[in-house]
Amino acid sequence: MIKTMIGFLAAATVTLSAYALTAKDQAIVDRIGHAASVCVVGDPCAGSDAAAATTVASAARAGDAVYNSGCAACHASGAAGAPKTGDAGAWSARVDQGVDTLVKHAYEGYNAMPAKGLCADCSEDEIRNAVDYMLSQL
Ligand code: HEC
Repeated sequence: MIKTMIGFLAAATVTLSAYALTAKDQAIVDRIGHAASVCVVGDPCAGSDAAAATTVASAARAGDAVYNSGCAACHASGAAGAPKTGDAGAWSARVDQGVDTLVKHAYEGYNAMPAKGLCADCSEDEIRNAVDYMLSQL
């Protein structure tokens, strides 16, 4: 019902503005025009909301949080043949490849290691944080 009314008001705004308006009509158009306008994130009218959305999207989760919510499922126990976190022997040859290669393998997948370690919404930075965290446990 409310949607129908907003649709009607929006249509009325368009219709009214197509004609020469009296001052009284213009006042009505101004009033309902505000009620019917929608502010979309990214538009200047969205102001600080848009800035806040950007901030949330770009804040990378910390390595231990990513690790505990995903990577630990395999790397804490060694499930599926995963090198165990804290097992320096299992990691030494891997660490020799360099951190960038480890991050690339974790992000893109590597044999039985699934891409992004099953963290589908993880950014590359978040995977890097998790790898850094795992290496800090050696
Ligand atoms: C489903 C189990 C599983 C999950 C979940 C998982 N891993 Fe792995 N991971 C593996 C296995 C298995 C390997 C060993 C792959 C190989 O060497 O063949 C591995 C290897 C790795 C390596 C070493 C890659 C190399 O080049 O030697 C890194 C780094 C790594 N995982 C990081 C992560 C991170 C970070 C996460 C979480 C975001 C994660 N893993 C989640 C199973 C998993």
